[in-house]
Amino acid sequence: MKGYPRRFYYWLMAAFAGLGVSGLVLTPTTLMLRFDTSLAWRIAAESRVFVAAVHAACGFVVSWIFGALWTVHIRAGWRQRRQLGSGLTLASALLGLILTGVGIYYLASDAWANAAAGLHVALGLGGIAVFGWHAWKGHRLRRRAARD
Ligand code: HEM
Repeated sequence: MKGYPRRFYYWLMAAFAGLGVSGLVLTPTTLMLRFDTSLAWRIAAESRVFVAAVHAACGFVVSWIFGALWTVHIRAGWRQRRQLGSGLTLASALLGLILTGVGIYYLASDAWANAAAGLHVALGLGGIAVFGWHAWKGHRLRRRAARD
């Protein structure tokens, strides 16, 4: 990634991985407790608090990284019209995840909190797929540029 310190890329990958994995681990509990879904497994209640704390902390780090990406990476991609589809989809999913994350914390009505959690999980699962797509396309572009 041009314009960033070398280690930035690894921090970005670690924060996204921590966020995605902790989100996936929390998902069965959300589906079972908020949407009455019957599943074979969910994390034990004692461990859930720890995983939710890791998740929220990774969410803060990813939001900070998103701000750093906005100033160079996103603006450069926008100007050069590179990876527009996957980039815009990913940025929108991240904004939606941040907003619904706040909703999970602060919406007082159960119905609205459940709706925010449902949307959060849907955006999270979609966001993981789009992140993979965006990173894979970027990797291919860099390899092609190195060959030419
Ligand atoms: C920038 C991205 C994200 C931010 C800022 C974020 C933030 C948050 C916050 C603040 C919470 C509340 C934690 C708590 O319960 O104490 C939460 C819960 C949750 N997040 Fe995320 N998250 C993000 C991405 C994801 C992703 C990628 C997934 C993957 C599916 C995910 C799945 C979940 C689930 C299942 C919950 C529990 C919802 C509930 O209370 O039932 N999140 N998230």
